[in-house]
Amino acid sequence: MTAGPLVVLVGPMGSGKSTVGVLLAERLGAAYRDTDADIVAAEGREISDIFVEDGEEHFRALERAAVAAAVAEHEGVLALGGGAILDAGTRALLTGLPVAYLSMDVEEAVRRVGLNTARPLLAVNPRRQWRELMDARRHLYTEVARVVVTTDERTPEEVAQAVLDALELKDV
Ligand code: S3P
Repeated sequence: MTAGPLVVLVGPMGSGKSTVGVLLAERLGAAYRDTDADIVAAEGREISDIFVEDGEEHFRALERAAVAAAVAEHEGVLALGGGAILDAGTRALLTGLPVAYLSMDVEEAVRRVGLNTARPLLAVNPRRQWRELMDARRHLYTEVARVVVTTDERTPEEVAQAVLDALELKDV
């Protein structure tokens, strides 16, 4: 049993979880961990390849296990893949943890990830896909979040500061 992560970042793809997570880890003098990266390392292939070769359901099973391991082991900053909160067991695991939801509006999302084909869920018609995705997920991000931090028109440094403030964490 560890003390648990200092911060868990959730939010849609492109909301800056990895960039902000690395900055937060530096500010807190803690390690950074990312469940997408854990899955890629364990599988030896990219997430887009897992989706194409084995389907989303298989990816979600890998993700569920990756999140459970990271939440149990990691004491630093932890970023979860954008869809991790779809799993009820994962949401239950996050109960009581310092979870920050990095939110952004659709225009910001399209600007940041719309043309990024490495994101399999937004490859076709990004604006519509993103709206549908957020209609299905917004309440789940909010449900698990202790704090909600908007990222629109903010630099990663500003978002990191807002997370520290909202969670009342002191940097080193
Ligand atoms: C996904 C988000 C991605 C990655 C996968 C699925 C999602 O992570 O896990 O492509 O369902 O939103 P990021 O949020 O880190 O891009």
